[in-house]
Amino acid sequence: MTTSAARVDFPHVPSPDPTPAAQRDGLLADPGFGRVFTDHVATATWTAGRGWHDTAVRAAEPLTLHPAAAVLHYAQEVFEGLKAYRQPDGSVALFRPDLNAARFARSARRLALPELPPEAFVAAVSALVRADEAWVPEPPASLYLRPFTVATEAFLGVRPAEEARFLVAASPAGPLFAGREAGVTLWISDELSRAAQGGTGDAKCGGNYAAGLAAQTLARSHDCDQVLFLDAREHRWLEESGTMNVLVVTADGELATPPLGTILDGVTRRSVLELAAGHGLTPVERPISVEELRAGCADGSITEVFATGTAAVISPIVAFRSTAGDFAVGDGTPGPHTRALHAELLDVQFGRVPDPRGWRVPV
Ligand code: COI
Repeated sequence: MTTSAARVDFPHVPSPDPTPAAQRDGLLADPGFGRVFTDHVATATWTAGRGWHDTAVRAAEPLTLHPAAAVLHYAQEVFEGLKAYRQPDGSVALFRPDLNAARFARSARRLALPELPPEAFVAAVSALVRADEAWVPEPPASLYLRPFTVATEAFLGVRPAEEARFLVAASPAGPLFAGREAGVTLWISDELSRAAQGGTGDAKCGGNYAAGLAAQTLARSHDCDQVLFLDAREHRWLEESGTMNVLVVTADGELATPPLGTILDGVTRRSVLELAAGHGLTPVERPISVEELRAGCADGSITEVFATGTAAVISPIVAFRSTAGDFAVGDGTPGPHTRALHAELLDVQFGRVPDPRGWRVPV
């Protein structure tokens, strides 16, 4: 494969030992999130001398890595998350995979990893979904796809690795916050930060998530579902939640969300901003302070708060906790705009309504 290849093939080498259909159907009945995996992966290898090569869809097996592989020491890794959705006619569609492909390339650039051409990204994901089509669940579940690139070169000197591997794993998935459809509670992290200007906050790399785990543990210890990160300089401005972007609805009809820079350019975030006008809301990307959030929830000028992500979809946020005290959003239940945007997004993804924007991409 060359980076200019217009069409990239990921030939299917079927697993010699696929999961029996009855066992697969049992797993699909209640997959949970991130625990069940399909029979195959898509894969490609990169070396500095040859570029990308050895593309295939083959059996999902444990990886063999040298103990000195760069990813194990210096976290040179990037990943993506997108889903394949079963459509009413039985076919399968991806949702805006071009945005994931572009972000994957941007993340790779930031982590000094080789960039996979966007058309190869979409070809890999599509080939894997076709190979494991029987693993795509019926709605409301979907097939979560996890493309990633890891630095595989065995070398302990610190420099960009000269060998890397790209893989896509697939995992039938239900909700990220099972049992929390009535809303989640966030812990406002006023001490631990996720990202700073010039750092990797806008890249989707494993290191960002590793750096967030201590704050997530703290959130759990305060009986919260996730953490809300503030900016690193002033500990004042909303950034993102551990795995989600955050948006607020104001009484005067704004759908406001923190600007890009140190946060992830979420596909769901962007889609919801693009749907806002149809819901009578004005999308605004602007700084939101924790004081505005607290005061707005108290005086009713902020009426709803929700979080977005591929895994989280749209999760209502119904309460916040912090060292400065706890507060609820609205009456503590999901608001009407949150529910309507959630319903519309799922309708588009699952093919239940027309798709004038061309967001669905058949595999
Ligand atoms: C996604 O929503 O795709 C994510 O990457 C979140 C994940 C870390 C659970």
